[in-house]
Amino acid sequence: MSELIYSPGLEGVVAGETAISNIADGLRYRGYSIEDLAQHACFEEVAHLILHGDLPTAAQLDAFRGRLGGNAAVDPDLLKLLLAIPAATPLMDVLRTGTSTLAHWDPEATDISHDAQLRKAERLLAKLPTIMAAHYRLRLSEAPVAPDPDLSFAANVLWMIQHKVPSRNLERAMDVSLTLYAEHEFNASTFTSRVITSTMSDLHSAITGAIGALKGPLHGGANERVMAVLEEVGSPDNAEPWIRNALANKVRIMGFGHRVYKTGDPRAVYLKTFCRELAVESGREDLEQMADVIETIVGDEKGLPPNLDWPSARLYHYMGLEVDLYTPLFVLSRVVGWSAHVIEQLDNNRLIRPRSKYVGPGPRAWVPIEQR
Ligand code: ACO
Repeated sequence: MSELIYSPGLEGVVAGETAISNIADGLRYRGYSIEDLAQHACFEEVAHLILHGDLPTAAQLDAFRGRLGGNAAVDPDLLKLLLAIPAATPLMDVLRTGTSTLAHWDPEATDISHDAQLRKAERLLAKLPTIMAAHYRLRLSEAPVAPDPDLSFAANVLWMIQHKVPSRNLERAMDVSLTLYAEHEFNASTFTSRVITSTMSDLHSAITGAIGALKGPLHGGANERVMAVLEEVGSPDNAEPWIRNALANKVRIMGFGHRVYKTGDPRAVYLKTFCRELAVESGREDLEQMADVIETIVGDEKGLPPNLDWPSARLYHYMGLEVDLYTPLFVLSRVVGWSAHVIEQLDNNRLIRPRSKYVGPGPRAWVPIEQR
């Protein structure tokens, strides 16, 4: 096996080419820095940029918004089916099933041509918030709230969850978080979607697999666990003893560390400022103080910077959102990046099929069943 390269976890391996995002110099989506996008663009512009390759003109943005609004409703039979899933089911599982099930209602489900995949990606992007919010409201014994095509994507997500048109600040906070979560080159869930696509399977299958990969606590599932950390810490005074004890016991601290960013995740840096503003508004500066203490000690002791999930969990908390929504919100945004990668993979496809390093027993002689 000497000519083969072995890197556990594929660390340091370049597994393909992409023109969608670059993390060599901060994080850029198709050349634009996430800081510029988060500051100036709305999520729909970012989604258009990632899916279609460029920022939209005003007319293109109108048309894109029209398509998203027009596709946001889900077929009543499909909704009925999804609402039959027990109310206590984690929303990530509902989204995984929902994505897979949406294929049965999609007129182009098996068409994997470039243009059909793009249309399906837009339909998925439009419909996933409707599914997530409807199922979330089931557990509150509340009826689903129909999507409002006159609202922005971010405002509509909050509208369907809370049945209240959000304030400008909350809409903006949701919009920025969606922008920052939209795309991140060959992370585990995106790579999953590309592996599935490389067999020439369809978009819904690839996104279903990606959702399965994202929900794990080492990836997107971390943002939900971050809140558990802060709840356990409880107060700023307890932050230092809590984190020192956790580190001494080799506890993995959710929201810290990253396979690629070793000195800092630019998304976390950007969102932290935003987080601060909402903390003041919602009177939860104590959470920011706890977060600061933990951040300083994890940095000093382990050299690990926070990743995006660290501030985003607090941001969603300040927005009055329940923890079980956090990773699903990541899905609503990342479906854009996954879809762009699925399309890019198929446009220049080669089956993704690495090798393994065999570490099992050497050759063994067959033993008949009565002699085992
Ligand atoms: N807390 C404590 N120690 C950590 C952490 C952490 N969050 N992350 C890494 N380490 C330590 C490991 O224990 C290990 O130490 P050791 O060598 O003494 O055993 C060392 O750093 C290397 O850890 P690996 O898991 O091999 O590093 P890798 O680069 O593979 O890890 C990962 C990246 C999985 C993200 C890791 O940092 C982690 O588990 N973080 C917590 C989960 C998390 O926040 N995930 C979100 C990722 S970002 C995103 O999906 C948006």
